[in-house]
Amino acid sequence: MIKDAEAYCSDVRTAAAYISGRIKGVMPEICIVLGSGLSPLTSLCSDVDELPYSEIPGFPVSTAPGHKGVLFTGTLEGKRVFMMSGRFHHYEGYDTSVCTFYVRVMALLGVKTLLLTNAAGGMDTEMILPGFMIITDHLSFHCDSPLIGQNLDMFGDRFPDQSYIYDREYISLLEGCAAKLGINISKGIYAYSKGPQYETPAEIRALHMLGASAVGMSTVPEAIAASHSGIKVAAFSCITNLAAGLSSGRLSGEEVIEYANRASDDSCALVREFIRNI
Ligand code: HPA
Repeated sequence: MIKDAEAYCSDVRTAAAYISGRIKGVMPEICIVLGSGLSPLTSLCSDVDELPYSEIPGFPVSTAPGHKGVLFTGTLEGKRVFMMSGRFHHYEGYDTSVCTFYVRVMALLGVKTLLLTNAAGGMDTEMILPGFMIITDHLSFHCDSPLIGQNLDMFGDRFPDQSYIYDREYISLLEGCAAKLGINISKGIYAYSKGPQYETPAEIRALHMLGASAVGMSTVPEAIAASHSGIKVAAFSCITNLAAGLSSGRLSGEEVIEYANRASDDSCALVREFIRNI
């Protein structure tokens, strides 16, 4: 919860000033959050600079498995990009306003586009895994809003509209990019789950009845904060497993990472094609 908007914004300014002082070359207007399986993207960029989160004032520590905790800057498909290798989850013990601190920093640095990627459990039992889903909307019922507390007036309104969190042109663009690359991709609603425990089969049945097609423990707080900051959001999930109760097996973090890695080439290709076309 944001107890003191002025103090929070002052921390955002300090972090942004630090990053802009450390970056060589043109400041990116695109930020990509590298979900599971996307870390090879940094090696596909030129002019890469690395900034460990631990050196950025106010940045939390990224503790999730496979999350490096490094802000990369580079050139991808001729565009300057920030790449967040490691994000912050509520289940790590961070308030959602802390999880989204980086989003505010990106806004202040002039970022206009945020591409969020994640691994998620799928609810379509016909889907061949790993699969992909473009996020068109979300269910945030289980998510503590990152906007709770004093409003950050320098970024956005107290009661922001949530009708178009995921930019409609970006949704079409992602669809077009996947088609061009021959990647099967669906479109659907992502349900936020607090974690860190996976959902129960009863919870999955309930979320599915509410219209969700995928479930995961990230993305929603970031999308809310980005949209509140006037940043355009695009997001897709790599569907690494069938959600709880939809297969005979048990869910495991290892399986999620294994399937996300299997999808890595396609995930990276999709991001590249998207970046090339925006
Ligand atoms: N549930 C929540 N988060 C996830 C899942 C899941 O089934 N798979 C990957 N991340």
